[in-house]
Amino acid sequence: MCGIIAAVSSEEEVAPILMEGLKREEYRGYDSAGVAVLNGKGTITVRKDVGRVKQLEERYDIARLHGKVGIAHTRWATHGGVSQKNAHPQMSCHGEVAIVHNGIIENYLELKKELRAAGHAFASETDTEVIPHLIEEEYETERDPVKATLSAVKRLNGQYAFVALFKDRPDVLVGARFDAPLVVGMGERTKFLASDVLAFLAHTDRAIFLDNKELVELSPRGVRIFTIRGREVAAKSRKETQLAWELGSLTKANYAHYTLKEIHEQPTTIQSALAQDPAKVRAIAERLKGARSVVLTAAGSSYHAALLMRSRLATEAKMRCETILSGEFERELPFIGEDTAVVALSQSGETADVLEAVKMARKSKAGSVVSIVNAAGSSLARQSDQVLLLNCGPEVGVAATKSFTAQVMVGNLIIDEITGRDTMGDHKKLGALVERSLETEPLMKRLAKIYRDRPDFYFIARGGNYPVAQEGALKLKELSYIHAEGMPASELKHGTLALIEKGTPVVVIAPDGPGYDDIISNAQELAARGAEIIGVAQRPHPVFKHTVKIPASNGSIAPVLEVVPLQLLAYSMATERKNDPDYPRNLAKSVTVK
Ligand code: F6R
Repeated sequence: MCGIIAAVSSEEEVAPILMEGLKREEYRGYDSAGVAVLNGKGTITVRKDVGRVKQLEERYDIARLHGKVGIAHTRWATHGGVSQKNAHPQMSCHGEVAIVHNGIIENYLELKKELRAAGHAFASETDTEVIPHLIEEEYETERDPVKATLSAVKRLNGQYAFVALFKDRPDVLVGARFDAPLVVGMGERTKFLASDVLAFLAHTDRAIFLDNKELVELSPRGVRIFTIRGREVAAKSRKETQLAWELGSLTKANYAHYTLKEIHEQPTTIQSALAQDPAKVRAIAERLKGARSVVLTAAGSSYHAALLMRSRLATEAKMRCETILSGEFERELPFIGEDTAVVALSQSGETADVLEAVKMARKSKAGSVVSIVNAAGSSLARQSDQVLLLNCGPEVGVAATKSFTAQVMVGNLIIDEITGRDTMGDHKKLGALVERSLETEPLMKRLAKIYRDRPDFYFIARGGNYPVAQEGALKLKELSYIHAEGMPASELKHGTLALIEKGTPVVVIAPDGPGYDDIISNAQELAARGAEIIGVAQRPHPVFKHTVKIPASNGSIAPVLEVVPLQLLAYSMATERKNDPDYPRNLAKSVTVK
């Protein structure tokens, strides 16, 4: 979704800092970008446009804007088309207040009507624009940035994180959050507000994670935090967090794209994911064992990791267990109760659907909420009773890659603890095995050349590997824009076989093991109807037109070894089709709206 970065400094020019921060947040949204800087003479200069941050920077020579306080934004459009006037910052009509916003103001039409009747002129089609007008309305009488913002937020329905810049206050920024992320960066000379710590990590590794429904006044000297009802929160109750992520992980190193770098990092990130505190894993395993049922919830790729976890919990740990897409959680509520343990999986920890699911689980008095999450300090991590972090470092590419495999392995750790299975030996070998899966890259490039113009792709698997087929299809869709479906092989003959024609590529995940003969029969049925079979397997088979060789492994780590070539296929297909794999069209990394 949208990304916010704002800075107020005692000494530094903020324009270059804001542009650098925006580039690090661009993965959140990239249809337009903008910046507002207040100079020492009381002038707010706004520069905004459609396109990427780099284009904005070059077109408007942003580095030449002077000022020690400013706000900036990268947009992923929700209300109002992609246009210069709808890009942020949005200004109030008398130019007193500028705003950057992430989220949706649900009652904006009603507020707009009211503000128009009071004489406010609107310049955009966005929901955001009501915020600066509302604040200005109060500020003209109050002249107090915090009080004016508090009055405005009382009128807002929906979800938001925003930062306000005031024309006559070069020493102050005011931010507010309600169901959308906003974090404070505590540099020595410069303080920051951002959607994500990545935006200011180059300047400080000290952060304060705001709680939901809080408002913050930021100055170069420090912060004051208030609840949105106006009560000041005692400073000592809000400790700074030392951030563990390293800046080096934010570069592409020698790779052409973040996505490729993140795919190649997996031999290492999987090991970091496995390096969990055994006491924490044990405590979570105990919670799940003590529950009558386990409900796993997540979205997108994280949901596929949840499906893999469910499969092992049900078949090996023999637990009553189901997986509910977070966006559908509301309709599944009857299944939640005091004897239910809810496990939420998320890379960002900020996905609105996942947070909403957790909220509903709490309302239905779920016994406990456990999360498996990459972003420490994220809303999900803070709302959970117990948390295991993925430790895989920042994932910048929009498509989940290393976070998915880290989720699978953290899930495995919990399940191994429940079942008492000794996996130390397997885990030691895992890095080397993933390296071997990565060796499929040249073949994946060749396959991308062969199949680049095919309109449809199918991925099939059996049993516990079925979520890998879904994940392979999702990766291909989002990076290549080719239609793809992942399904259990057994379902083919119940309908989808009708779509197979001469030359249709079908990826068949066929590791050695109990389902091997069955899936080979399915591959034969497909080939007999003209399909070209791409077998992901330990060995070739006459029915495979191409064999993607994966190393032999035990069942629980097989999904990781199988998915790596599929990530490489999606990446290669994207580059072959001249798509930007890091920033696929229409998508945003962190989906913070419902
Ligand atoms: C797919 C992808 C998305 C995310 C989904 C959930 O490659 O990245 O489907 O998996 O939006 O995001 P998180 O895991 O941050 O909750």
